[in-house]
Amino acid sequence: MMLIVLIAIIGAATAQQPPRTSVPHREQFRVIYEWRTIDFQWESPTDRETYFNTSRYIPQNVLISGINFYGDNIYLSLPRMLDGVPATLAYIPAHQNDTTAPKLNPFPSWSDNEIGNCDALQFVQNIEIDRNGIMWILDNGRVGTLTQNPITKCPPSIVLIDLKSGNNKMERIPLSLDTVNPSTTYLNDLVVDNRDGDYAYITDNSAVDPGIIVFRLSDKKSWKLRDKKSMSSTPEAALFRINGTTVNLPVNIDGIALGPQFLTEDDSVDRTVYYCPLSSFHLYAINASVLRNESLAMIGEGALRPYVVDLGTKTSQTDGMKMDSTGVLFFGLIGSSTIAEWNSTVDFRSGQRTIARDPNYIQWVDRFTFDDRGNIYVIINRLYNFIKNQVSTEEVNYRILRSYTGSKSYVFSEDLKPSTPPQNAAPTKTIAASMLVFAFAHLIA
Ligand SMILES: *[C@@H]1O[C@H](CO)[C@@H](O)[C@H](O)[C@H]1NC(C)=O
Ligand SMILES: *[C@@H]1O[C@H](CO)[C@@H](O)[C@H](O)[C@H]1NC(C)=O
Ligand SMILES: *[C@@H]1O[C@H](CO)[C@@H](O)[C@H](O)[C@H]1NC(C)=O
Ligand SMILES: *[C@@H]1O[C@H](CO)[C@@H](O)[C@H](O)[C@H]1NC(C)=O
Ligand SMILES: *[C@@H]1O[C@H](CO)[C@@H](O)[C@H](O)[C@H]1NC(C)=O
Ligand SMILES: *[C@@H]1O[C@H](CO)[C@@H](O)[C@H](O)[C@H]1NC(C)=O
Repeated sequence: MMLIVLIAIIGAATAQQPPRTSVPHREQFRVIYEWRTIDFQWESPTDRETYFNTSRYIPQNVLISGINFYGDNIYLSLPRMLDGVPATLAYIPAHQNDTTAPKLNPFPSWSDNEIGNCDALQFVQNIEIDRNGIMWILDNGRVGTLTQNPITKCPPSIVLIDLKSGNNKMERIPLSLDTVNPSTTYLNDLVVDNRDGDYAYITDNSAVDPGIIVFRLSDKKSWKLRDKKSMSSTPEAALFRINGTTVNLPVNIDGIALGPQFLTEDDSVDRTVYYCPLSSFHLYAINASVLRNESLAMIGEGALRPYVVDLGTKTSQTDGMKMDSTGVLFFGLIGSSTIAEWNSTVDFRSGQRTIARDPNYIQWVDRFTFDDRGNIYVIINRLYNFIKNQVSTEEVNYRILRSYTGSKSYVFSEDLKPSTPPQNAAPTKTIAASMLVFAFAHLIA
């Protein structure tokens, strides 16, 4: 057992400007797991050898990208950007004393991760687990995205698993071809909004057609909304400098977060969606009610522009971000090896706080998750080495850090009800109408 305690907290330091709001106390981040390369719980030692011998398992090509929590497990996504990734979704125990390189268990199973089988998972960049215990998996269907020859194996799909049921049956829902292009769409990240039939807001960081895909579970309908200005990479933010390495990476809309419910002036419920391109210094916001308006997708380019709010700049680029149930956003600042937070009730420009900074341990902040005990977790994955094909199997390349914040995921944010729901009017009308019928009935009689 060796919990490595580390990571300087620069509590009072702000990411940008002098503090104007109180700084919450934050516990240090600790390393709870770390790996040089990712290995798996194989069905037999021969399996490992066979996969290894036939280049279906190339240890240095397996990168952890996404992280989620449910029950006693941490779920990890392993996008098949290179060849030799035997499973694209896996889990490890959330609580265990040994920090060194736990072996990953393919999820739901080995066969459910088979390449080329369209009943199985092909390429998972991120997943989300909603308040009802439903796992929403983004499966791009295309593998080898960082190779010379990416191959579209299966249609881009949403795959659902009801984790409560325990049988881990997958329901695959291919996205409409009006919404996705199987050879260019890149389903990157999502938030789930458990209201009115359950929506997912998905970032598509396609190099040619970036946008937000909205998917409504109740009727399995999807549409895509675009806004070039806020969803595209910008040249001044395409260069990443980290740990002595420089990488040029013009990546479009990527991280996404969802705020708590609020009541609008006209007494309806809404939420704010936050997003940013990876290669950008800006954070943007748009109301969920706008994304949910299908007719804006019909209008096309320009339709979203009046509704997008530029909240201001950060000191560096951000990959993953996550909001808690009260509207506090956690995000990485890649170039400064920093984890930051922002209480969305205050102005973004003055409200950003650095909660951890460490050039040796915080080397490319990717995704965050919360557990059910008030902890936040973050994946550190040195993506710059992976992209430059310079992963050293002699060094620690992947870490999961954890800190106690006392908060829980945005999916558990409070449900609000309008004070005068429009539905209230309906029963009165019905009664009135039926009284009218009685009146006429009397006349006719
Ligand atoms: C894998 O390759 C090694 C070295 O060539 C060989 O000894 C071994 O039998 C192979 N294992 C399997 C399962 O193919
Ligand atoms: C971890 O260590 C603690 C204290 O040493 C012990 O109580 C606990 O059972 C251990 N947990 C596991 C999963 O081994
Ligand atoms: C969302 O809508 C509310 C009013 O309903 C408005 O005050 C707010 O500025 C909007 N937010 C964004 C990001 O557009
Ligand atoms: C959806 O957008 C269209 C086009 O801008 C607008 O006319 C309509 O009122 C919007 N609907 C809702 C429910 O906001
Ligand atoms: C966020 O700010 C609001 C308003 O200033 C405050 O009531 C709330 O406690 C803050 N949340 C946290 C987690 O600090
Ligand atoms: C890069 O990170 C490693 C591991 O933390 C460290 O040993 C090394 O000094 C760093 N190199 C530079 C140039 O910062």
